[in-house]
Amino acid sequence: MRTDTGEIIHLENYQPTDFILERVDLTFELDPTETKVEARLIFHRRENVDVNAPLVLDGDELKMTGLLLDQETIEPAHYDAAESSLTIRNLPASAPFEITITTEINPEANTTLMGLYRTKNIYCTQCEAEGFRRITYFPDRPDVLAVYTVNIIAEKATAPLLLSNGNFLGGAGMGDGRHFAAWFDPHPKPSYLFALVAGDLGVVEDTFTTMSGRDIALKIYVEHGKEPRAAYAMDALKRSMKWDEDVFGREYDLDIFMIVAVSDFNMGAMENKGLNVFNDKYVLADSETATDADYANIEAIIAHEYFHNWTGNRITCRDWFQLCLKEGLTVYRDHEFSADMRSRAVKRIAEVRHLKSEQFPEDAGPLAHPVRPTKYREINNFYTTTVYEKGSEVTRMIATLLGADLFKKGMDLYFVRHDGQAVTIEDFVRCFEDASGRNLTQFALWYHQAGTPLVSVSVEYDTAKQSLTMALEQMVPATPGQPDKEPMHIPLRFGLLLPNGSEATATSVAGGEVTGDVLHLVERKQTVVFEGISSRPVVSFNRGFSTPINLHFEQSATDRAHIARHESDLFARWQALNDLATPNLVAATESARKGEPASVDPSQVETLLAAAADETLEPAFRAQVLALPSEADIAREIGSNNDPDAIHSGRQQVMTAIAKAGRDVFARLVENMAVSGSFSPDAASAGRRALRNSALSYLVYAENQAERAIKAFRDANNMTDLSQALTILAHRFPHDVSTTEALDEFKIRFEDNALVIDKWFGIQATIPGDGALQRVKALMDDPLFNASNPNRVRSLLGTYAFANPTGFNRPDGEGYRFLAKNILAMDPKNPQLAARILTSMRSWRSLESQRADHARNALRDIAGASKLSADVSDIVERMLK
Ligand code: PHE
Ligand code: ZN
Repeated sequence: MRTDTGEIIHLENYQPTDFILERVDLTFELDPTETKVEARLIFHRRENVDVNAPLVLDGDELKMTGLLLDQETIEPAHYDAAESSLTIRNLPASAPFEITITTEINPEANTTLMGLYRTKNIYCTQCEAEGFRRITYFPDRPDVLAVYTVNIIAEKATAPLLLSNGNFLGGAGMGDGRHFAAWFDPHPKPSYLFALVAGDLGVVEDTFTTMSGRDIALKIYVEHGKEPRAAYAMDALKRSMKWDEDVFGREYDLDIFMIVAVSDFNMGAMENKGLNVFNDKYVLADSETATDADYANIEAIIAHEYFHNWTGNRITCRDWFQLCLKEGLTVYRDHEFSADMRSRAVKRIAEVRHLKSEQFPEDAGPLAHPVRPTKYREINNFYTTTVYEKGSEVTRMIATLLGADLFKKGMDLYFVRHDGQAVTIEDFVRCFEDASGRNLTQFALWYHQAGTPLVSVSVEYDTAKQSLTMALEQMVPATPGQPDKEPMHIPLRFGLLLPNGSEATATSVAGGEVTGDVLHLVERKQTVVFEGISSRPVVSFNRGFSTPINLHFEQSATDRAHIARHESDLFARWQALNDLATPNLVAATESARKGEPASVDPSQVETLLAAAADETLEPAFRAQVLALPSEADIAREIGSNNDPDAIHSGRQQVMTAIAKAGRDVFARLVENMAVSGSFSPDAASAGRRALRNSALSYLVYAENQAERAIKAFRDANNMTDLSQALTILAHRFPHDVSTTEALDEFKIRFEDNALVIDKWFGIQATIPGDGALQRVKALMDDPLFNASNPNRVRSLLGTYAFANPTGFNRPDGEGYRFLAKNILAMDPKNPQLAARILTSMRSWRSLESQRADHARNALRDIAGASKLSADVSDIVERMLK
C-alpha cells in the first residue's frame, strides 16, 4: 500500500519529461506469486535538456532484480532505486539508449486491484490512473505515449488465453508446458491504457464491418458457462460502433476489439486500447438474473468504454488534471447514445436525477472541486461525479451554446487537430472557439469554478405594454479554496407558454442575448425584456436541464400544473411535477419533526395522478412522474439541520396519501401495464414494467398488506419484477414471515450467481429504520459475504451508507462508528474502495447537530489512525476541513 506522504500535486508545476520514450517491449513470465517482468524501454533525451539531467521513473511496491543500460549492467553508483522512484544518472547526451528493467511481482498478494492481480485464477491488470508503476519502473504519466510490444509466457493448462492490447502477432507452445503469445499495438498510448489478461475463459464472437469496409473481430470473454449472458453486451457493442460512425464519424482502428469480464474490479470498466476490462456486472445479463436497469447500464457502459477509443485513447490527457477531457466528453457521448437508443426525455430525466442526487451534494459539501481541478493529493479520488457528470453537462452546454452544426464542426476539428496527442481542456475549448468564432473565455469558468450556481428569477408581465420582464441574478457559492466567484455564462433554455398552451415568441428582446429558446445569462444581474407578448405567459425555465444550476423561481402551483400539461419539452413537464411535489415533502418533513401528521394538498395529488394515468404519455415517463423526490433530494432541498427520520416519515405520509387517493388509478395500471409474451429488455417493455411496479408499490402503501407483493413475487418471470416485489416486501414488512421466506427462497435460488446475490444484500441493506445496523452486521457474517470482492462490499456496506438514510444516520451515531471501523479494516487491503465508500459521509455537515457531532467524531477517529492510505487520508482530511 502506498501510504500517505501528504504531498500535493499542482497543475501549475506541469513540466514535460526530460526524456522521450520511443518504444516499449514487455515480457511477462506469469506466475501466481512470482511473475517476472522484463521491460525494455528506448529513450532519448529531449532537445535542450541538461545533459546531466537524470532519468527518473515511477515505481510502487516493486522488487527490481535487474537493471541494464544498452544490455550492460549499470553500476550501483549510477542509480537509486527508492520506494516510489528509480533514478538513473550518466545517460547519453542525445543518442537513443535502451534501459532494461527486470522486476518480480506477486499478483496473488495484490489486494489493491491496481497493477497486475488475480481474480478467480485469471491474471488481470488495471493501470489507470497510476497502476502501471506497480508492474515496472516507468514514466507513468499520460503524456508519455509509446508503441508497445508485449510477450506473454504462461502455463498452457491454466492460462490457455493470453491477451494484450493491439493486434495478435503470433504464439506457440514452448515444450515445457508453457506457451507464449505476442501482441503489437501500433497506436502510441500512455501506460494507463496498457492491459494484460491471461487465464481460462469462454468467449462470444462476432464481427463488425466498419464504414470503410474493414472487418473487425469482436470477442467478449467471460467465465465458462456464462457465454449466453454476454449476448446483450455484444449487441450493445455493435450498436455503439455503428452509432459512433453515424453521429461522430469515428471508425474503429484495430483488427480486433476485445472485452473481458472479471468479477473483482474497483470501478465499472476500463477502456484499455483494444482490450477493455469490465466489472462483470456491466457485461452479464439475462432475463432471469438482470433487471431493466442492469440492461440499461450495460448498454451505457459498453458504449462509454468503446467511445473512449477516440475520446481518451487516440486523444488523451496531458496530465490527470485534465481527466474531464476524456471522462466528461465520453459521458456526454454515452448519454447521447442512450438517448438515441431509448426515449430521449426519459433518459434525460434519469440523468438529471442522478446528477442532482450525486453531483449536487458533492458540489455543495467539503469534497467540492472544479471539473478541471488545479491540485490533488490522490488522483484516484478525482474519479468523481463532478469530473464525469458535471463534465458531461459542460460539454452539453457547449452544444447548446453553439447549436448542433457548430458543435459538430468543433468536434471534427478536435479529432483532426489533436489525434495522437495528449492535450488539455484549453485545447478542447479552443477547437470550439475556432470552429464557431465565438469567445468561450467566460464559459470556460464552468471548468474552473466549483459549486452549483444559484439562479434567482422573477418575472413581471405588463398587459398594457404587452411586455414581459425577467429579472435574473446568479450567485456561485463559495467552495473549498474558492471563496469568491466570477459570474458565469449560463445558457438557460426557456419557453413562454400562453394560456391556450401554445408558445409565445417575442417581437423584440432587450437586455440580453437570446438565440432560439436559449437565454444567455452572463452578468451577475441582468434584466431581459420581451416585447410583443399578447397575454401573460407561464415561463418554463431550464428546459431539458440545459444548465446544471439550482433555480430559485417562485411559481404558483397553477402555473406549474400548466407547464406539466402543455410544455413541448417533456423534461420540463417532469420537472414541473417534481417541483409541485417538493414543497409538500418539505412541509411534511417539518410536520413530522413536530410530531404532527402531514397535510397533503389534494389538487397536487390530482395533478400527479392525472399524469400517471395519461395514456398519451409513454409509461416510462409516467413511472418517472410517480417516483417522488428521494429522501436525499428532500435533504438537499432543506439544506441544513437535517433530520433523516423526519424526512423519511414525512415522505412516507405523502406516499400513503397519494396511494390512497390513487388506489383505482394504481389498480388499473397494475392490470393494464402487464407485459405479455417472452421477456424483452427493450425500453418500451422496461417502461411498462417500471410503471407497473411503481403502481404496485403505491397499492401496497394504500392497503398496508403484504398479499399483493407476495403474489407479485410468486408470479414474476423476470428479475426486474422479482427484485421489485422482494424490495417492497422487505422494506414495508421487514418482520413478516413471508418476507423472511421470500428472502431465503431468493438466496437459495440464486446462490451461485454473485451478481444476483449482490442484489439480495443490497435490498436488505436498504431496509429503513433502526433495525438496519443489526441486520447489516449480521449480513457481514453471512457465509456469502466476501470482504475482498468490491461488488459485494459495495452491495452491503456501500448501499447501507449511501442509500439507507435512516438506517445509517442513527441519532446515536452507531452507523458512523460502524462505517469507520470497516473503513479502517479495508484501507490496508483496498484503499481505493475504502476511500470511495467513505465519501458517503460527504454531507455530514448538513445534519442536525447531534448526528453531525457523532459524524465528526467518527471521521476524527479515522483521521487519527496510523498508517492511513493516501486515498483515505485525503478524503477524511478534506471532509473535516
Ligand atoms: N476510465 C474508466 C472509465 O470511466 C474508469 C476507471 C478509472 C476504471 C480508474 C478503473 C480505474 O471508463
Ligand atoms: Zn470513462
